[in-house]
Amino acid sequence: MSSNPTSPPATEPRLGEPLPEGLLDAGERLGAEELRQLQLTRLRQTLRHAYDNVELYRRKFDAAGVGPDDCRTLGDLARFPFTTKADLRDTYPFGMFAVPMSEVRRIHASSGTTGRPTVVVYTDGDLSAWADLVARSIRAAGGRAGHKVHISYGYGLFTGGLGAHYGAERAGCTVIPASGGMTARQVQIIQDFRPEIIMVTPSYMLTLLDEFERQGVDPRATSLRIGIFGAEPWTEAMRQEIEQRMDIHAVDIYGLSEVMGPGVAGECVETKDGLHIWEDQFYPEVVDPLTDRSKPDGESGELVFTTLTKEALPVVRYRTRDLTRLLPGTARPAFRRMEKVTGRCDDMIILRGVNVFPSQIEEVVLGTEGVAPHFQLRLSRRGRMDEMTVRAEARPGCGPEQREAAAAAIARGVKDGVGVTVRVEIVAPETLERSVGKIRRVVDDRAPDA
Ligand code: DLL
Repeated sequence: MSSNPTSPPATEPRLGEPLPEGLLDAGERLGAEELRQLQLTRLRQTLRHAYDNVELYRRKFDAAGVGPDDCRTLGDLARFPFTTKADLRDTYPFGMFAVPMSEVRRIHASSGTTGRPTVVVYTDGDLSAWADLVARSIRAAGGRAGHKVHISYGYGLFTGGLGAHYGAERAGCTVIPASGGMTARQVQIIQDFRPEIIMVTPSYMLTLLDEFERQGVDPRATSLRIGIFGAEPWTEAMRQEIEQRMDIHAVDIYGLSEVMGPGVAGECVETKDGLHIWEDQFYPEVVDPLTDRSKPDGESGELVFTTLTKEALPVVRYRTRDLTRLLPGTARPAFRRMEKVTGRCDDMIILRGVNVFPSQIEEVVLGTEGVAPHFQLRLSRRGRMDEMTVRAEARPGCGPEQREAAAAAIARGVKDGVGVTVRVEIVAPETLERSVGKIRRVVDDRAPDA
C-alpha cells in the first residue's frame, strides 16, 4: 500500500475515512471568510451578467427597483426577485440564454409533467465547472482515480447520465456508460467489468438488486463498494436497506438541471450527514414557500439557488420547490450542508387537512417486516373524502397471516407517525411497476375538482 496520500491505491478507496488533504481541490480548501468574499464577488458578477444579457432579468430587476450594483453584501441578495420554472417555460426554448448560441456547447432539457420542457444550456466553461463538481462529489463519496464507475442514470436530454459521465472521467475514473434499462444486461456487466462505484437513482438500484437476486447472484458479493444515489428523494431507511443488502456505502448526490445538473451538492462518506452544498459555485437560501420570506439557517423551507459562475444560463434566486434546511458544514467546514431532501412542495399530498410526503410513507414501509421496499400511493375520492391507499409488495415467501400483520403495522405506523388513516393493500411479489429512472410514487385517481 502506498504511503503517499495523494495517490491512494485504486482498489482501496479508504472507505469511511476523510479525504486526504492532498485530494481536496482549490474550492474545498477555502476558509469560511475567503469563501464569503469569493461568493460576494461572484454574486455581483452574476447579477451584472444576468442583467446585461437576459431581457427577463432586466425587466424583473427594473420592476423590483434593484440593479446589480445594489448587492453590496450577501444579505442584499434577498432584495432581488425570484426566478421560477414558469420563467424558463415562458421564454422557451432559448429566451434566457446569456451568451450567443455560438458559445453554447450543449443543451439539456427536463421533461415537465405539464407543457413545455425546460431547456438548459452550457458553455465550455460551464461544462468544465460541472465536471469538476461531479468529480468533487465522487471523491467526497469515497471514489478515487482508478476506480471503475458504472453509470445507470439515463443518458440523453436528462442531465443525470452525461453529468455523471464527464464528472467521473474528470475524477480519473473509468466510466461504464450503461444508462438506464436493459436491467438483466446491466447485472451481467457489473459482474464482468467489476466496477467499484455505481451511480444510479435509488429506485433503479432496487430494481437492479432484485435482478441480482433473480439471477442467483449475491448482491453483497459484487465488486461494488460505493453507490452514489440521487435525482429523487430517498430516506435514511432506504440507505440502510441498500447498504445492508449490498454491503456498500450509499451516499447522496443532489442537483437540478435548471441550476446545473447532478453535483450541486454531495454527501461525504465519512459523515453521511446530509449534502455539502458546493458553495463556491452556488449560493443557497431557504424561504417560506407560502410567504416567500427568507428563513434562517436551521429552519425548514424551500431551497433557493443563485448560480455564482454559470455563463450560458445564470439563475438568480431559483425556486427549486425542494424542501430542506441549511446546516453548518462538517466534513467540509466552510460549506453549509442541506439536510436530505424530504420532498418537493409539489409532491405534498394534503389528505383531509394533513400534509403527507411520500418519504414519510417510505420510512414506515421500509421498517415493516415481510414487505419489500416497493410501494405506491393511490389517491382516490369517496364522496367528498379523499382516501389514500398504500400498496406495498410482499416479500417472496410472506404468507397470508404475515401479510395481514404487515398491513396492520403499516396502517398503524402511518397513523402514529404521520397522523392520517390510510388503507393498506399488500400485493404479491413482482406486482408493482419497477423504476428504470426516477420512480413515480403517487397515482392520483381523484376526479379533478369541478
Ligand atoms: O435529477 C439531476 C440529478 C441527476 C441529480 C442525477 C442527482 C443525480 P432534474 O431532472 O432537473 O435533475 O430534477 C431535479 O430532482 O429538484 C429534486 O426534486 C430531485 N432530486 C435531485 N437529486 C435529489 C436528491 C436531476 N439527492 C429534481 N434527493 C430536484 C432528493 C433529488 N431529490
